[in-house]
Amino acid sequence: MICKGALSLTVDMVYPTFTKEIGKYSATVRDVHQQLESEYESVGWLYDPLENHAALLGRIEQVAQEIQLMADVLVVVGIGGSYLGAKAIQTALSPYFERATCSVIYIGHNLSAAYTEQLLRTLDGKRVYVNAISKSGTTFESAIAFRIVRQYMEKRYDDAASRIIVTTDAKTGRLKQLAEHHGYRQFTIPMTIGGRYSVLTPVGLLPLAVAGINITELMRGAKDATVALNEPRLAHNPAYHYAAMRHLLYKAGYRLELLATFEPSLTYFQQWWTQLFAESEGKGGQGLYPCGVQFPTDLHSIGQFIQDGSPVLFETVLHVNEVATDFAVPFDVMNLDRLNYVAERGLQELTTIAKNGVTAAHREANVPIIELQIARLDAYHIGYLCYFFMKACAMSALLLQVNPFDQPGVEAYKKKIQALLEKTTHHAASS
Ligand code: PA5
Repeated sequence: MICKGALSLTVDMVYPTFTKEIGKYSATVRDVHQQLESEYESVGWLYDPLENHAALLGRIEQVAQEIQLMADVLVVVGIGGSYLGAKAIQTALSPYFERATCSVIYIGHNLSAAYTEQLLRTLDGKRVYVNAISKSGTTFESAIAFRIVRQYMEKRYDDAASRIIVTTDAKTGRLKQLAEHHGYRQFTIPMTIGGRYSVLTPVGLLPLAVAGINITELMRGAKDATVALNEPRLAHNPAYHYAAMRHLLYKAGYRLELLATFEPSLTYFQQWWTQLFAESEGKGGQGLYPCGVQFPTDLHSIGQFIQDGSPVLFETVLHVNEVATDFAVPFDVMNLDRLNYVAERGLQELTTIAKNGVTAAHREANVPIIELQIARLDAYHIGYLCYFFMKACAMSALLLQVNPFDQPGVEAYKKKIQALLEKTTHHAASS
């Protein structure tokens, strides 16, 4: 087990040979650690949490307080890295059923007519602010959504411009031009930080501050991770250990990594993680397919495949050790359901037992298991975890010898859509 700062990692391997093999990565990992800092432009996120962000956080908090005071809803427009980080952390840290004073909702990550129409309808009668997020400023889905939302705002408010905040590149892009033209307030995405590595910039921080998340604590967690994980020695760096383990398993023929959690609020965090690894690594016919599973829900569906299906996957189990309030199973005098043997035991204790039982069963089925544990689900630990995964992902992609910071496959689909749109526009215009 490697414990570093807020996180512990256990590589609990079925095959003892893997434990020996991992040691062989030490020299490569040290070299890649240097390469990461010297050969790539898009690594602003590597040390960004160490910068003095007091002024920026202050400005974000100030705008967030204004939104909380003046709005019932903040509509965040964005997709991919301009959407998932905020959604992931907001969902992970917000109560399941209580409604926030100012709700934060998202658009621009789909082209669903029903979703769009219903979202606009729910805004009626509510006070609305908008945060449009796009680094390039040209992403099709979010640009369309922003046009729709912008027109909605202009119809409803004489002072629409003062209710729209744009988060984009400092200098270029259509969103930047729109913001300048209309006089929208702006936050900047640093040039050296790409979409899926941008959750700890205003991209994630403004929506999160509005949602009531403590962004100072989030950044404190990320800052501690930046220091703890800036360690070239494999044996002392859980992020690099995790990356090397993934690479070893990939080389051994595994093709799927399941990120398993027992906390439903982590569903979008799993999606953020999926995007991070899929877009960073799935290149040149290579890469592990990342996929989130929620236990015990998915034990009653995908669980069958994990235990007994094609032997192509391994599991990374993310476990939260403590909960704010545990909930005890009540004692029942009649005991007709025969559950008194677990009466008075907390659901968190049962979750830990379930986790141990599930991993034992999967281990028996020769599923390799990597365990990650954090103490609590709070802003500090989520900030730490985000940085952990970003650093591990960059290392993991470089071990595969692919660029962790581009996404040529995503560009390919965008070009196809554009070509089809131009073709159909031409037909429509000439018919
Ligand atoms: O990680 C990435 O770079 C992508 O997922 C982008 O975040 C996504 O395509 C949205 O791009 P943009 O912020 O330019 O609208």
